[in-house]
Order: sequence, then structure tokens, then C-alpha cells
Amino acid sequence: MNCRAGIATTAFALTAGVSDVDAQSVETFAPASLEELVKEGASVYRSRCAECHGLNGEGQWQDHDAAPRLAGKLAPLSVERIALLIIQGGSYMPRFDSLTHREIAAVATFVRNSFGNNHGIVSEEEVAGHR
Ligand code: HEC
Repeated sequence: MNCRAGIATTAFALTAGVSDVDAQSVETFAPASLEELVKEGASVYRSRCAECHGLNGEGQWQDHDAAPRLAGKLAPLSVERIALLIIQGGSYMPRFDSLTHREIAAVATFVRNSFGNNHGIVSEEEVAGHR
């Protein structure tokens, strides 16, 4: 693959919202609306977070999957704290640094704007800044 083709492929992947290692190495980000991020974040949440935090953010308190309720209590969690928590993990929460900037931005935006929370976007730029 020559250089031009590589750039074209990466640009296409970003526009299409497909994230891969190539796309991550390019530090320019396609703008995303709240609706797009929430929609993408919902699917990341279902596959990576719901087992502990519950499909409706209800949390759970037994067994090794115990996790706090996310519904209606995220106000004090800043963009920085939520980005760092997802990237680095917590005392018991696993780290999710294998997710792309876009997936982390999407799932962070999803939890900040679901379950009665209403705290706005976490952008890919903000996530990238905390890697
Ligand atoms: C293995 C269970 C587990 C999984 C999976 C998990 N978490 Fe957590 N999460 C926790 C625990 C336990 C805490 C409490 C903080 C700690 O571990 O130090 C927490 C804390 C949080 C908090 C802070 C809540 C607050 O009120 O302070 C947020 C936000 C959060 N998780 C989001 C996520 C997201 C988004 C995902 C998926 C990418 C995820 N979690 C996956 C267990 C989990």
C-alpha cells in the first residue's frame, strides 16, 4: 500500500466512525454530535460495562462484579475523572485502555447523558489528552 492510499483509508475509517489502530494514530477527529456519541456509547456500554453497572445503570452490590449505581448521581464526576477512570480503571473497576479514543468518548458521553444524567459530551480530543 502506498502512502496516499494509507491516508485515504484512514480518513475514510474516521468519517465512517470505524476505529482501528490506524485511525487512532491520526490526531484529528471527526466532529460528533451528542446523539451519535450516545448511540455508539450505548453499544459499548452494553458489551463492556452493563455486566457490572447494570443495563439501566442501577449498579449491583454482590459478588466480584459489585459496581456503583450510575443512574442519577454523576454530577460531581468531571470529564477528566471519567476519562481517567475508564482509561486507567479504579480500585476494582478494570481498565479499558484497549478501547479507542472514540469508544471511550462515546461510552463516557453515554453514561453522562443516560439514566437521568445530563452532563454533556466527552470528546475524542479530551480522551486523547488523558492517554
Ligand atoms: C468488573 C466490574 C466493572 C466493569 C466491567 C465496569 N465498572 Fe465502572 N466501576 C466499577 C467499580 C467497582 C467502581 C467503583 C470505583 C473503583 O473501582 O474504584 C466503578 C466506578 C465507575 C464510575 C464512577 C461512578 C461514581 O459515581 O463515582 C463510572 C462513571 C464507571 N464506573 C463507568 C464505567 C464504564 C463506562 C464502564 C465500561 C467501559 C465500566 N464502568 C465498567 C466496576 C466496573
